Amino acid sequence: MASVQIRKYRDEDAEVVKELFTLGMSEHVPSSFTHTLKQPLTQMVLMCSFCALITSSKSLLLPVLALTLLLAGVRQMVVYMFNRYIDASLGKDLGSIGETYLRRKESCFWVAESDGRVVGMAACLPAENAPGCLELKRMSVRRSHRGLGIAKALCRTVADFTRERGFPAVILYTSVVQTDAQKLYERMGYTKTREFVVPELAAKILNFTLLEYKLDLQQNRERD
Ligand SMILES: CC(C)(COP(=O)(O)OP(=O)(O)OC[C@H]1O[C@@H](n2cnc3c(N)ncnc32)[C@H](O)[C@@H]1OP(=O)(O)O)[C@@H](O)C(=O)NCCC(=O)NCCS
Repeated sequence: MASVQIRKYRDEDAEVVKELFTLGMSEHVPSSFTHTLKQPLTQMVLMCSFCALITSSKSLLLPVLALTLLLAGVRQMVVYMFNRYIDASLGKDLGSIGETYLRRKESCFWVAESDGRVVGMAACLPAENAPGCLELKRMSVRRSHRGLGIAKALCRTVADFTRERGFPAVILYTSVVQTDAQKLYERMGYTKTREFVVPELAAKILNFTLLEYKLDLQQNRERD
């Protein structure tokens, strides 16, 4: 990995960390929209609306216009879901990183720096839903620096930290549309332990599934 240094977060990183997180999350809007279009419920609604309109109007123009509007509406719903999640995260832990991650010895926040510029980040803290484990959070790498092994280095940093603190495992959550992240975690020895739909109405309608992964540090299976 060329000239990349991983170091602890400092207060002056606040804005660039928020930017990295926002960019990393926003890039999943197109794949989430495609995921939504593949759902049987979405296809049924689109098909039924199209058939009903073409039968009642006896013209092609109205159903095509209505379908276009419906698709634009679905896309806006996806954008809304992502923006809500981003805003909530920026208002919670990412709005007070020092307070949330750097005050206790069992949590931490790291950034990856290349030529003096922050290009990646990851954090961990005690997992709410898995007592006795740490949770890896906020993994993101700037697009221009992907494929260089920065995320793998951040994963190792989190695993080493967790091991040193005496915890037996790291868990994390990612989503069905974050396919690069899934490959990364599987590459680093994590195994998928659970899949569940986000417990929110819009997510249920769109069948937006979260995946839970676990790295068992007592039988570390990272493949070289
Ligand atoms: C997922 C992400 C962090 C990977 O960052 P990265 O620095 O490019 O990852 P690395 O270069 O360390 O690659 C690590 C491994 O992940 C897998 N991987 C990552 N991107 C991949 C891609 N586009 N295609 C195939 N495999 C990929 C590979 O197995 C790779 O290891 P290998 O090259 O030795 O086979 C980055 O794509 C990202 O920031 N995405 C947006 C934010 C996000 O979704 N974060 C996850 C939150 S849960």
